[in-house]
Amino acid sequence: MTALLSLSGVTAFYGAIQALRGIDLTVRRGEIVTLIGANGAGKSTLMMTICGNPRARTGQILHEGQDITQWPTHRIMRRGIAQAPEGRRIFGRMTVHENLLMGAEVAGRTDIPDRLEQVFALFPRLKERMTQRGGTLSGGEQQMLAIGRALMSRPSLLLLDEPSLGLAPLVVRQIFSAIRDLNRATGLTVLLVEQNAYQALRLAHRGYVLVNGAITMAGTGAELLARPEIRAAYLEGGHA
Ligand SMILES: Nc1ncnc2c1ncn2[C@@H]1O[C@H](COP(=O)(O)OP(=O)(O)O)[C@@H](O)[C@H]1O
Ligand SMILES: [Mg+2]
Repeated sequence: MTALLSLSGVTAFYGAIQALRGIDLTVRRGEIVTLIGANGAGKSTLMMTICGNPRARTGQILHEGQDITQWPTHRIMRRGIAQAPEGRRIFGRMTVHENLLMGAEVAGRTDIPDRLEQVFALFPRLKERMTQRGGTLSGGEQQMLAIGRALMSRPSLLLLDEPSLGLAPLVVRQIFSAIRDLNRATGLTVLLVEQNAYQALRLAHRGYVLVNGAITMAGTGAELLARPEIRAAYLEGGHA
């Protein structure tokens, strides 16, 4: 089976500082793959590099076999890669509805009623809040909106950067179970970045561990959860 997304030898820099050190990573169609790692490991940089900003300095990024390494971000998005970025970045003064429309617009989509229906089926709360301004939503609702906005482009690959950040455990479970439902129902492929390693590894089919800009371990979610070094570094005391 060809990979939906594959990175080989990808490096990225901020000025003279190297943030990614030769990343090899594969996401197959229909998979949920998680990338776990401590704060500052380079997780967000990896997500953003897939979207072309910062651009990979060396290495190759293939999407459905097409080399997108040098493509501008807007073209990558139109190809079907959507991101719910770290910190949500929703438009606080726009309504829920307007935020969602923006997600369709960046990808040039016109089948908006269908897209809205799918998002509201996944997150009924957003339908109830349709005319409310984004900035007045709770943290969990803002995260639903960030994911919903990304889904409006009908992506083939959804990139989620720390959806659990700052949310209460119950809300985290709701968001993660929505991601699981979506993956099962539609086969949507997801690359999920998380510091919340326990929940992420339980959700994902496979995972990678990122340390200091390099992948140090890979395996199925269950394999990684069972590894003593993962337990010691990312799990002990980290979940109830
Ligand atoms: N815009 C930036 N300019 C310079 N350095 C950055 C920038 N963004 C991130 N970094 C650095 O790159 C490294 C990786 O950061 P990041 O990808 O945000 O990690 P993570 O998402 O795993 O917490 C860190 O050392 C961080 O300080
Ligand atoms: Mg980050």
